[in-house]
Amino acid sequence: MFKKRKNHSLAVIEFSEKVPFAEGCTLLEALNSENIKIDHSCGGMGTCGTCRVILLQPEDLDRNSIEKEMACEKSFAKNERLACQLIASENLKISLEPQKRYENDWYKSK
Ligand code: FES
Repeated sequence: MFKKRKNHSLAVIEFSEKVPFAEGCTLLEALNSENIKIDHSCGGMGTCGTCRVILLQPEDLDRNSIEKEMACEKSFAKNERLACQLIASENLKISLEPQKRYENDWYKSK
């Protein structure tokens, strides 16, 4: 199977090195493909709210309609975002703090 080259990277404050990703993938896909397991009960459809992360930069990135609905329904903080609805990009800087609640293995080791 053809694999996309991961020639971009983004910042996750819990990690000292930037996380590589392939063009066009979501933040959720980028993290999971690097074995940073983010909970995603609905498989990335934007309906469960379990893939939440904190977006530190850029501060003014618009939500798509799926994320807007979820953010309103679950009263998200302004910077609380769905990893499955964000397209990975070089200028993203995020925190995985909301994932602590799921006690992911990688977070337990921090
Ligand atoms: S994986 Fe379900 S909302 Fe993102």
